[in-house]
Amino acid sequence: MNKTTVVYPGSFDPFTEGHLNIIARAAGIFEKIIILVGHNSSKKTTLSTKERVSLIVEVTKDYTNVEVESFNGLLVDYIRKKGVRTILRGMRCHSDFEYELQMATANKLMDKEVETLFMVTESQFSHISSSLIKEIISLGGSAKGFVPAVVEKKLIEKLRPEEKRRK
Ligand code: COA
Repeated sequence: MNKTTVVYPGSFDPFTEGHLNIIARAAGIFEKIIILVGHNSSKKTTLSTKERVSLIVEVTKDYTNVEVESFNGLLVDYIRKKGVRTILRGMRCHSDFEYELQMATANKLMDKEVETLFMVTESQFSHISSSLIKEIISLGGSAKGFVPAVVEKKLIEKLRPEEKRRK
């Protein structure tokens, strides 16, 4: 059983500066971090899995102990197959707690070997979310500081296609 590898799962639609901040801090603590682009059945994504993976690979390329993968299915099945037992999640504010507690408990009930660790999101990122960023961009605003530049560019292409046509 691998003790120092953690899996950081999420929809990452898109991957934000808040997610990147968690990775930057976790990269100094754990030997290896697998960022896992997963499927949240309650969300309809703007970016395809391939696009999300490739953007995350690009923005995390300076971290030698970070890998990016995608999966479909149960997180605990992926974890078991990989021989990993630790899930890392960011916690922004107290309203995240209930949802995170529910997921961590469900994962534990499905596999008692699995542990979920939480890292508190730094305050400058605690007010942002992937859906808020998409709303700002689709209404013509700038998401600078909320998402890496390559992510913003891709979201503009997707959410404001008329701009691409005009160029
Ligand atoms: N900074 C800023 N924002 C953050 C953040 C941080 N550090 N951490 C999370 N967020 C935000 C995201 O932007 C996102 O915003 P949104 O709700 O507007 O999209 C939200 O918090 C959480 O999204 P994300 O981090 O992308 O993950 P998720 O909650 O969508 O991921 C899965 C859920 C994929 C991990 C979960 O559904 C899963 O495990 N699926 C697989 C199937 C399974 O096993 N199901 C049973 C689970 S018990």
